[in-house]
Amino acid sequence: MKEFEGKVAIVTGTTGIGRAIAKRFAAVGSNVLACGIEVAANKELALEAQASGLSLHVELCDVTQANAVRAAVAKTVKEFGGLDIIVNSAAFHPFGTVVETDLETWNRCLMVNVGSIYLMAHYGVPAMKKRGGGAIINLASVQGHACQRGVAAYAASKGAVHSLTRALALDHASDNIRVNSISPGSIRTPMLERSAANFAPGVLVAEVFQRWGQAHPLGRIGTPEEVAELAAFLVSDRAAFCTGGDYLVDGGLLAGIGVQ
Ligand SMILES: NC(=O)c1ccc[n+]([C@@H]2O[C@H](COP(=O)([O-])OP(=O)(O)OC[C@H]3O[C@@H](n4cnc5c(N)ncnc54)[C@H](O)[C@@H]3O)[C@@H](O)[C@H]2O)c1
Repeated sequence: MKEFEGKVAIVTGTTGIGRAIAKRFAAVGSNVLACGIEVAANKELALEAQASGLSLHVELCDVTQANAVRAAVAKTVKEFGGLDIIVNSAAFHPFGTVVETDLETWNRCLMVNVGSIYLMAHYGVPAMKKRGGGAIINLASVQGHACQRGVAAYAASKGAVHSLTRALALDHASDNIRVNSISPGSIRTPMLERSAANFAPGVLVAEVFQRWGQAHPLGRIGTPEEVAELAAFLVSDRAAFCTGGDYLVDGGLLAGIGVQ
């Protein structure tokens, strides 16, 4: 029997880390509904899942919209019989100081990165309670602990993810729902490619990734699959005593002070 046989998960974000987590969970037997707003990426993931015979359904869903999130939770419960796991990986990463960030961008960042976690829990926790418990993972970031210049909205949102994770963990421990966050360092995804284009315009992405990799004591950037491995552990029964925590998967980045 596979480890997640009979489990039901919702994962937000159909590229990068969200995609790797959805596939990792489905590979060990979970039924997964992956929610994303990128039509082409959704289609690609659905085809990958089909080709691998995974029970992974992909839903076009804007996770900032209450009706869309409510419908995604309802569809999951209807199709798979309940809900055990939520992974919030969807995010928007704008660049700029607060002076450079307009209100619309600020609000969108906070709504995608934090509001969607609220919405998923608001509609998802009652369904999890009916199953007698569950597990939630929120993708935070090392930028919630210590940040670069020029990422004010994103850094603020990731600090809020850490706080909301603790609040959810305390409020729902008695429901047997464990809530943890993961803070990755630099991970090879479309988001990191956009960061490379922003911070080093005109430089080859591979070169920027190589340079950023050197800032991590392990000497390289990470992969989405390495983050998915930690997520699989944290939602499993092997992590039964873990809740309210933040777990680094950062190649040692935060262990040093300006260490190269
Ligand atoms: N890649 C990194 O280096 C890194 C580092 C630290 C933290 N993170 C975090 O990991 C998580 C995953 O990021 P990633 O690197 O895989 O980036 P990504 O850009 O590949 O994934 C983010 C996904 O969120 C989706 N999304 C954005 N707005 C949405 C909305 N309104 N509704 C539904 N989906 C929406 C995007 O379409 C995209 O598929 C994010 O929370 C990110 O902040 C990433």
